[in-house]
Parts: sequence; C-alpha cells; structure tokens
Amino acid sequence: MEIMVIALIPLSFLLLGAGFLVVAQVSGFMQSSFFNQRQNFSNMIIQQYMERITLAQGQLYQRKQELEGMSAKLSLSNQELGRLNDMKSKFLSMVVHDVRTPLASIRGFSELLMKKKVGEKETAYLKNIVSSTDQLGRLIADLTDLAMIEAGKLKMEKAPFNFPDMAKDILPGLSINAQKKGVELAVHDFPEGVLVDGDKFRLSQVFMNLVNNAIKFTPAGKRVEVLFRREGKYIDTLVKDSGIGIHPSETKKIFEKFYQAKYQKDAALRKQGWGLGLSIAQEVVRAHKGDIGAVSPGLGKGSTFWFKIPVAG
Ligand SMILES: Nc1ncnc2c1ncn2[C@@H]1O[C@H](COP(=O)(O)OP(=O)(O)OP(=O)(O)O)[C@@H](O)[C@H]1O
Ligand SMILES: [Mg+2]
Repeated sequence: MEIMVIALIPLSFLLLGAGFLVVAQVSGFMQSSFFNQRQNFSNMIIQQYMERITLAQGQLYQRKQELEGMSAKLSLSNQELGRLNDMKSKFLSMVVHDVRTPLASIRGFSELLMKKKVGEKETAYLKNIVSSTDQLGRLIADLTDLAMIEAGKLKMEKAPFNFPDMAKDILPGLSINAQKKGVELAVHDFPEGVLVDGDKFRLSQVFMNLVNNAIKFTPAGKRVEVLFRREGKYIDTLVKDSGIGIHPSETKKIFEKFYQAKYQKDAALRKQGWGLGLSIAQEVVRAHKGDIGAVSPGLGKGSTFWFKIPVAG
C-alpha cells in the first residue's frame, strides 16, 4: 500500500505537468491569433491613413499651384499699380509747376493795380483776388509737398537751430490770424535755448499748421494756448484750443491725407481746406524721429494737438 502511494506521487506530478503544457499551448495559440487580428486591424488603419495623406498631398500640391498662379498675378498688378502711382506723382508735380507761374503773375498784377488809384469797390475785388491766389498758393505748396512725399523725395535739412526762437519768430504772424478771427492767442512756458537738429523751415511749417488749425476750428471770442515742455530727450509743443473738438473715433484718422473729420457739422470750415496740413505735418515730424498726435474730450469740447521732436546732443 505504501509502495503504491509512493508510485502515484510522481505520476500525479507528471499528469499535472502535462496539463499545464496543454493549457499553455492553447492560451499561446489564442494569444497569437488575437495578436494577428490586432495586427491586421492596425495595418488596415495605417493603410487608410496613408491613402488620406496621399490625397491631402495631392490637394496641397494643387493649392500650391493655385497660390503660385495668384501670386504671379498679384505681382503683375503690383507692378501696374506702381507704374500708375509714378504717373500720378509726375502728373501732380507737372500740374503744380504749371499752375504756380500764372498764379504768381495774377497776384503780382493785382497788387500793382491796388497801388493805382482805383475805386473802393475795385480795391475790395482786388483784395479778394489776392487772398484767393494766396489760398490757391497754399494748396499748390501742399500738393507739391504731397507729390514729393509720395515720390520719397521730400528732403529734410539737418542743421542745429534754436527751437523756441523759431516759434517766437512765427508767432507775430499767427497772432494777426487770431486777431482777424477774434480768437485770443496765448503763449506760455518758452524754454530757453533748446537746440534741435533738423529742418527749421519744415518744423516751422508743422507749428504753423497746428496753430492755424486751432484758430480756424475755434469760434470767435474763445481761446488758443501754446505751451512748450521739455520731456527728457524731447521738446514737446502743445496747441490747446477751446474750439469745435473732435469725435474720439477720428483723432487718428485726421492725420491721413485728404481726411477731414466727418462728425464735425460745419461744412463752411471744411471747405476752407483740403485735409492735407496734418498729413504733411506728420511726415515732417516722423522724418525727425518725433511724434505727433491729437486728443479731444469730444465734439464741442476743444482739442489739444501736440508734436515732440528730439533735442540735439
Ligand atoms: N484744432 C482742431 N480742432 C478740431 N478739428 C481739427 C483741428 N485741427 C484739425 N482738425 C480736423 O482735422 C482735419 C484735418 O486737418 P488738416 O489740417 O489736415 O486739414 P484742413 O485744415 O481741413 O485743410 P488744409 O490743412 O489742407 O488746409 C480738419 O479738416 C478738421 O476736421
Ligand atoms: Mg489745416
């Protein structure tokens, strides 16, 4: 009996081992068939992706061709636009040149006639002719500047000059304009001996444009103030008026050429100009590495225009 039990023990181990072997083989088989299925599935998805990528590549190539075609057309239109722009600038400078000469003789002869003994009525007519030719002369000057700016030919002198002195020289003429309009012109805070390295004539033009605008857009009986401030490396000029003001949406746009504020209702004031002064002023100031701008609390509440220029040294 004992011998039998002893013999059965290795037998049962043998059977157990064989059982394990069979189970391992079956599960291995099952695993490998599952793995194959998964592999096939992955292959199918990869295949689908490849097809899609190939399709997208084809579409991309087509878009690239289309884009190349469009960019070639665009560059042709650009060339044409450049040519037309050149023609416009040439035409503008030709007209400006041809108008200037007869205008000068109209003005000259009118002044000559005024010196003769003519009646009151005739004198009034002649004065009218002179002031109209002056107005046209200013427009011609602005158009000349514009043509030069567009052709990139607006030349700036570079020489040191005393900035407050430049303003002082111009102010008497501006005061006459203010008086004619019935506007008070006050000037404060003249700094002493501030040197600017730049174009005196062009910068005085900027100063005049701002002050004349302030006088133009301020009703009689009100006030325009001019202030100067030294701010670090800059000299800042402020022209403050109590005039018709500017809508907040237009304080930047008014520096574009030919732009006149649309929210302002006074058509008569608009007709007195062309919307060129500020755009030219902006070009001049930028050419001096300075900045220019306007702020206004709103329509009817006055405005402040400022420009700042680096000081020399
Ligand atoms: N001080 C100001 N107050 C209110 N609006 C102003 C003032 N200065 C300029 N503007 C507005 O900005 C616009 C553009 O000014 P800008 O000086 O360029 O042209 P303009 O004075 O109308 O004509 P131009 O200067 O060509 O004779 C003006 O038409 C006006 O609408
Ligand atoms: Mg102006």
